Amino acid sequence: MKLWNWPALVGFLATTAVASDILTPDAVERDIEENNLRNVLWNLNHIADSNGGNRAFGFPGYNASIDFILERMVTRFGKEFDTYVQPFNHTFETTRSIKVIGPHDEDVYVISLQYNTATPLPGGIKAPLVDTPVDDLRGSACFEDQWDGINAAGKIALVKRGVCAIADKLKLAKSHGALAVILYNNVPGKPIGSATLSASNLGLLVPVGVITLENGSDWKERLADGEELTATLIVDSETELRESWNIISETKQGDPNNVIMLGAHLDSVQAGAGVNDDGSGTAALLEIATSFQKYEGLANKVRFAWWGAEESGLIGSLYYGQHLSEKDADHIRFYFNYDMIGSKQPIYAVYADTEAHETGGSILFDYLKAKGKPVYYGGFGSSSDYVAFLELGIPSSGLFTGAGAPEDECYHQACDNLDNINWEAITLNAKAAGRAAAQLALSLDGIPPREKVSINPSSKRGVQRQLNRAAQLTRVIDKSHKCGGGLADNTV
Ligand SMILES: *[C@@H]1O[C@H](CO)[C@@H](O)[C@H](O)[C@H]1NC(C)=O
Ligand SMILES: *[C@@H]1O[C@H](CO)[C@@H](O)[C@H](O)[C@H]1NC(C)=O
Ligand SMILES: *[C@@H]1O[C@H](CO)[C@@H](O)[C@H](O)[C@H]1NC(C)=O
Repeated sequence: MKLWNWPALVGFLATTAVASDILTPDAVERDIEENNLRNVLWNLNHIADSNGGNRAFGFPGYNASIDFILERMVTRFGKEFDTYVQPFNHTFETTRSIKVIGPHDEDVYVISLQYNTATPLPGGIKAPLVDTPVDDLRGSACFEDQWDGINAAGKIALVKRGVCAIADKLKLAKSHGALAVILYNNVPGKPIGSATLSASNLGLLVPVGVITLENGSDWKERLADGEELTATLIVDSETELRESWNIISETKQGDPNNVIMLGAHLDSVQAGAGVNDDGSGTAALLEIATSFQKYEGLANKVRFAWWGAEESGLIGSLYYGQHLSEKDADHIRFYFNYDMIGSKQPIYAVYADTEAHETGGSILFDYLKAKGKPVYYGGFGSSSDYVAFLELGIPSSGLFTGAGAPEDECYHQACDNLDNINWEAITLNAKAAGRAAAQLALSLDGIPPREKVSINPSSKRGVQRQLNRAAQLTRVIDKSHKCGGGLADNTV
């Protein structure tokens, strides 16, 4: 299926199935089966395997992921769903190659970050290393005063990862004359988790390579002993504007003025297949839609969103939110976010930091509690697609099973593949999500209207302030929480 065919395909092919049974939460719960979730995740993993190892924004694996969703939502369920592919543009970056050569001409294991800056080629930047102090509380090289007395001009700064956004460290390195940064990890071993520096920082940062904690600590000690170390960093990266897409698919049944929305992101990071992040949410939505198309009796519309370019900074969902009219935003009565719901050693977290959020969130909570899971409510962070909906004051909730060790050791890595799923967790969470969608599709009793927010919706700082306030009130559940705060497009 070619992309240019997508708009023409919307609602084009009709199936002959006759809907007859009436929708109930029990029916949807029953319909969602582990085997079918496995089948979707097998397909997403296979798409990555056959497309260079990922399903990331700007790569062919994302195109193939779009085709996979459309095959079901349009080709098979075109009679029950209206589907629309929403295009948007965003800056794409990929590091073609990265290399660090150590003081003894040895190759050092290194990873790049998204939106890295290219070095001159082919030689890269060869310069003496200069150390920066380690501060595990305020972070290393995060603040102006932490650079006092460091002569970084013309050198490569050795900096420890953690606490503040990496982009902040690289900005300060640039303003202090450093030519590049070699960042060493703040957790031991290989592999090293990737992160994004944010497209908005392009041109403001020095090139960076991330090495292991072990190798960085070794160099730090040798510098402290007075050794002079010279290293080389070579970054070959490409930046250009590329198109990407959200898929928005809604039931034909139900009141268009009362819409329940479910969202999951369809893109992965460049490092891997993204089976838990967020194949898990993608699969849940697809299986919930597959159940819904069998039934009649929906009072309200149910709209499914598969978001693009989440890993580049929530780009697709923010684009969707910012292009909704006030009226269309009013019509979205509840948003459920499902991002990483099958982590290997799951926590069972339900997003909610207001009573409005709990009106939908409690359906998820009560179901998981009844199944004996240690479920808890946590506040929204700022690192998934719910941000656009919180900005609009739309009551929201969702599920999250944890990112990073111990919950998901393969977070943002190549090993986020079919082996990286807890099948009991994803199945239970998908059933919970299906029940919640069904219950609200039948009745919106008790769901408050959207709260018109006073802050300027395009002001990220305003949103950040609001989110920080929320964070003080509740235990925040956030993908980037372990590493500190910061918006998702600017990770530590
Ligand atoms: C994805 O599809 C679009 C539209 O057909 C095409 O322009 C683009 O080159 C494709 N991207 C990749 C990475 O294959
Ligand atoms: C994306 O950029 C291309 C090329 O500049 C343009 O033709 C297209 O209309 C843009 N799409 C959107 C949604 O802005
Ligand atoms: C980096 O660490 C690895 C494993 O700890 C070690 O084998 C290698 O010699 C180190 N390289 C440098 C340049 O220190």
